Amino acid sequence: VGTGPLAGKTAIVTSGPTHEPIDPVRYIANRSSGRQGHAIAAALARLGADVTLISGPVAIPDPSGVRTIHVERAEEMRDAVVSRLPTDIAVMVAAVADWRVAASANQKIKKRADEAPPSLELAENPDILKTVGHHPQRPKLVVGFAAETQDVEANGRQKLDRKGADLIVANDVSPESGVMGGTINRVKIISMSGAEDWPEMTKDEVAERLAALIASRLSAN
Ligand code: C5P
Repeated sequence: VGTGPLAGKTAIVTSGPTHEPIDPVRYIANRSSGRQGHAIAAALARLGADVTLISGPVAIPDPSGVRTIHVERAEEMRDAVVSRLPTDIAVMVAAVADWRVAASANQKIKKRADEAPPSLELAENPDILKTVGHHPQRPKLVVGFAAETQDVEANGRQKLDRKGADLIVANDVSPESGVMGGTINRVKIISMSGAEDWPEMTKDEVAERLAALIASRLSAN
């Protein structure tokens, strides 16, 4: 049994990309290292929370002090998250693919010189954050991310509403920001009561500060 401001609290965190199979050897995915999500899971655990991390395929180790569940596809990630509700805290950091291949092939699609390239029909994936934010067993505190390349604050506010989140951590992932795949991040915290700019920090520092904010929001209720 842990000590700390989040002792006795449960948390689920999603992290990394999802891989949506085209066939057994090919997939579509978003870019995501999993660094920010993994750091948040570890930071919540350091404050005493009982943390389950649901991670898509990443190249970084499982964080210590956290129960890590590995998934591939968005639908698997959704099932893993929903089966753990209710929790006190949910932080959805994963870069979930918005679409999956409607009918992925069981065998490798062969490349044939005399044939046109295949076309892929896509189907919409479940929105995990939105599912959690509107779930009958909604966690007490639901946190989402908004990776935007423009109008960061306006898009973040819309997301708060639409997804049923309490907090949105919005960051600028335009190529010139250097955030994607890097170790630094610069975020804006958006809630019903307004927006707050945090200075440029490492992803570990963002995680630390977000975990502290989550602890203070939960104790204020
Ligand atoms: O809609 P958008 O992808 O910009 O929203 C980002 C937020 O929603 C992130 O917190 C992300 O983890 C979550 N999300 C999700 N399931 C999806 C798409 C996004 O949980 N299918």
